[in-house]
Amino acid sequence: MTHSQHPHGQHPHGQHPHEHGATSSHGHTHGHGHSHDPSDDERMAEMLDMDATLQAAHLAEITDWVAGLGGAPETIVDLGSGTGTGTLALAERFEKATVFAVDNSEHMLGRLAAKAEARGLDGRVVGVHADLDAQWPPVGTAGLVWAASSIHHVANPDKVFAEVFAALNPGGLFAVIEMDSFPRFLPDDIGWGEPGLEERCHRLIDAQGWNSHPDWQEQLEAAGFEVEQRAFAYELAPEPAVMAPYAQLWLGRTRTGLEDKLSPGDLASIDALLDTENPAGLEHRTDLVLRGSRTVWAARRR
Ligand SMILES: C[S@@+](CC[C@H](N)C(=O)[O-])C[C@H]1O[C@@H](n2cnc3c(N)ncnc32)[C@H](O)[C@@H]1O
Repeated sequence: MTHSQHPHGQHPHGQHPHEHGATSSHGHTHGHGHSHDPSDDERMAEMLDMDATLQAAHLAEITDWVAGLGGAPETIVDLGSGTGTGTLALAERFEKATVFAVDNSEHMLGRLAAKAEARGLDGRVVGVHADLDAQWPPVGTAGLVWAASSIHHVANPDKVFAEVFAALNPGGLFAVIEMDSFPRFLPDDIGWGEPGLEERCHRLIDAQGWNSHPDWQEQLEAAGFEVEQRAFAYELAPEPAVMAPYAQLWLGRTRTGLEDKLSPGDLASIDALLDTENPAGLEHRTDLVLRGSRTVWAARRR
């Protein structure tokens, strides 16, 4: 089930905390005013779903840690739930909890609802269409609030931190999760062009401010939380049939976003990797290793 806090797009929005280029986290175009272009949402949703499949074990490590710290919450709120990677993992991890999935994209919430139903979790998963830049959604009090790769999207994180603090039961936990960088998967030397292609792409990505976020510790403490943080690294080599579409999507979005920043040589190297006919392209490579890390801030309301 899904309930709307307000009709989509009705609220004016403040300045976004950082600029996004052509694409932002997960290659998502993110303009001010949160106008959700359905094709952008669709691309981002595809990416999020692939993340969920590929990084299930990594996510389980994080939910295990949070469960160890957070006990057995009856009510969980997932802020910026996307297609439900966290929501569904949490609903499965905490078998008695009701999980409210809050997002300002109806498209994401629609996909999430379908997945919840397919897994038989729809009785405990509630989609809430709401804009975190406007008022706090009507979710009641919670034992656990989760926000993965979403806080850097909101206009005023301090406002959200204060609202989460007020919504948590005493002793409750707020888990803020961010990617330390976009995933990497290429070897340093891909066999042609100048070695270090992925490194150069990542430097440019960082310079664009995509996915950029501060260390949230200080702001969380200022909101009244006691905070501990931990980094979770992952490194996996899924079979090419699983890895290739993910790598194609990421590198394709990287190319689009950095088209006017990369050297002609690097653009040609990327095109060769994306070329599905190329026997050494992403589609056929066996040397792709997906790696990255996330930081989790576990913030407790005493
Ligand atoms: C990068 S995605 C992360 C999705 C999910 N948490 C995950 O880890 O897969 C960010 C999500 O936050 C949502 N979002 C961004 N700004 C928002 C806002 N102001 N209010 C509610 N949701 C927002 C987007 O629609 C998107 O689904």
